[in-house]
Amino acid sequence: MTIQMSKTFAATIEAPSPGANMGQAVPRYDAREKVTGQAKYASDYAVQRPAYAYLLTSAISLGSIVSFDLEKARAIPGVLAILTYHDMKDTVADSKFFASGGYLGSTIRPMQSAEISHDGQIIAIVLAETYETAREASYLIDVVFDVKPPSASFDTLGAKVRSAKLASLLTHDDPAVGDIEKGFASADVVIEAGYSTPIQHHNPMELFTTTCSWDGDKLTIYEPSQSVYGLKNGVAEQLGVDAGNVHVVNPYVGGAFGSKGMVTHRTALIAVAAKKIKRPVKLVATRDQGFTIATYRAETRHKIRIGATRDGKLSALSHEGWEVTSRPDSYAVSGTEATSRIYACPNVSTKVNIVYADRNTPGFMRSPPEVPYMFALESAMDELAEKLGMDPVELRRVNDTMREPIKGLPYTSRSLMACFDQASSAFGWSKRNLRPGSMRDGDWLIGWGCATATYPTQMAAAAARVRWSSNGNVEVETAAHDVGTGAYTVIAQTAADKLGVSIVKVTVRLGDTSFPPSPVAGGSITTASTCSAVAHTCDLLIARMAQRVGGAEDGQRAARVEGTQLVDSRGGKEEVAAAFERMGNTVLEQYGEWTPDGGGKGDIKSLYAGRSKITGGAKLKNSIQHAFGAEFVEVRVHARTKEVRVPRIVGAFAAGRILNPRTARSQLMGGMIWGISSALHEATEIDAQTARYINDNLADYLVPVNADVERVEVIFVPETDTQVNPIGVKGLGELGNVGTNAAVANAVYHATGQRVRDLPVRIDHLIV
Ligand code: MOS
Repeated sequence: MTIQMSKTFAATIEAPSPGANMGQAVPRYDAREKVTGQAKYASDYAVQRPAYAYLLTSAISLGSIVSFDLEKARAIPGVLAILTYHDMKDTVADSKFFASGGYLGSTIRPMQSAEISHDGQIIAIVLAETYETAREASYLIDVVFDVKPPSASFDTLGAKVRSAKLASLLTHDDPAVGDIEKGFASADVVIEAGYSTPIQHHNPMELFTTTCSWDGDKLTIYEPSQSVYGLKNGVAEQLGVDAGNVHVVNPYVGGAFGSKGMVTHRTALIAVAAKKIKRPVKLVATRDQGFTIATYRAETRHKIRIGATRDGKLSALSHEGWEVTSRPDSYAVSGTEATSRIYACPNVSTKVNIVYADRNTPGFMRSPPEVPYMFALESAMDELAEKLGMDPVELRRVNDTMREPIKGLPYTSRSLMACFDQASSAFGWSKRNLRPGSMRDGDWLIGWGCATATYPTQMAAAAARVRWSSNGNVEVETAAHDVGTGAYTVIAQTAADKLGVSIVKVTVRLGDTSFPPSPVAGGSITTASTCSAVAHTCDLLIARMAQRVGGAEDGQRAARVEGTQLVDSRGGKEEVAAAFERMGNTVLEQYGEWTPDGGGKGDIKSLYAGRSKITGGAKLKNSIQHAFGAEFVEVRVHARTKEVRVPRIVGAFAAGRILNPRTARSQLMGGMIWGISSALHEATEIDAQTARYINDNLADYLVPVNADVERVEVIFVPETDTQVNPIGVKGLGELGNVGTNAAVANAVYHATGQRVRDLPVRIDHLIV
């Protein structure tokens, strides 16, 4: 790895000068590897004489397979085998859904029977000498299905509704406090409205790939994953093999956003296929197959009612949500955890409902609960502000609170209004005319809108190994995942800072189960969890080195490196080089485990078993920890065509210590762009009759491109939080795209006077 850097960085938009409590804007550790094409992604690994797999997926959503005609496919030269449920039945053990302590993102088991439970379910695997041969053969397979009428979504026959609280697999509770009816009775103003968000698919650039290679009873899996230990243990369980014999390799992930967090069924199937034909098997599933063999963000509906007194203070808030899931799996994102707590309100009532339909099981996608639920709440807050004749920023201010209202727990820190103030001043919000439709530039109606962003500060136990050499080289190994976020970089910075070496001396190795485990790269926990473990491991290393510094007694624990010197807790000093000499070691190696406050004794053991026990957010007993932000958007809506453009967006965020303003800005900027996308572009369309996804490709599934995103400004609001973890990091990978969708819709309202409550906002909503 080569890191190009100088001692000081010229401040640029990409690499803002660090403010208070921020680290250096170090360039990405993996930048050179990635831009020169040297970074090896999972499917880039060469294996010996691979067979190429091509999946055949179901063309129906409910029913069963009557028969396969494989004749024509088998006749293609180079076809090695065609596997169906007849061959795969009983080769993969039943395994549990992740929400009930298992590893799987879905309990619908493809290729274990003739049954079809959703569109695009894997029904056959063609293995051939080349990818093209396997694909051609798969096109020649004839399948006869027995089709049953499926339930596609909300409002379709057979869709069953159930309270999330009663769904046994979930630990969801409906947050509530006070007396909701009394709260509404004491309100001067009440608003009530329904909102909805669509199905979305993650569509990471890197497709869902799996390469499996057996060496005797040892299995190596190359697969993009947000949880390599989860994949290792999950697949071992499915195959009934010892997890010690499974090795997962995946140093780079080409985007994930939640889609590569859970074990999908393809991995075990490919492992079995490789065993059957006694050759390594390589699968690169197609873009459209990615829509059905992995998870997605399910569609949601919301009913919100808010009561307030004339001064804007909330007296009652009720939020009921509905979310779609598959027939067997009780999955829900349950975003009322956040919406019930974000503003001061004495009377709160919430409920989450799950709607079971004939679909693949959804899963988490960037800010899973907050993106849909905060869209509803922040749209409703805007409606309330308008009804009160109040500035929407002032409405947030009068309801700001340092204690969440459900249990009265204090926020460890909360800089929401500082974010609003800095973003609004950078945006020029004070020049806004409150009246909708009042700002215009020729044919373009101009609208300004804003919304709150928030994300729980979560973390999990992590482990790391650090090697420190007398020549100053440092190696860090931990099975964390850099999903494009900058994990390599901030981990390198953490070790460099602790051990007083330049970052160019640090080598970081991630994404491999031969390293100590780090938790799933989900819930924005990697920096807080893994960097805490790396910092802790460095501390142990320094303490070992410093034990005899300045003649101090053995067992000296508190020590640090300052410049080139070791400094112990009594002020004793020794050159690091001298300490290496004294100890007679060329290399010191240290293994360390770190468990967060709110974590438990067994968390490290669970981590090794591939389960991340995530704590924090609203799960703590004595406090609540969240990161906050405020986003301001300008939209231009063409008066005649109703085309919507977003010329600028400004977000200010506070998330504790910012380890690297360059990578952090990138995360927040990407989040806001995705928020614009969530407001104006993205939606997976489903056919209500057949329950099949229609726009399962990147031509029809709209995502924003450069022309859709003009000016994006990220402001860091300095914040220090000493309670969240020893390094003071809150995590911000998901924060930026919360609330953006509402800010855009609120701006569209301000431009046009038309309130769009169903995402995405499209021209047909505005032409009336
Ligand atoms: Mo992220 S959706 O928490 O993997």
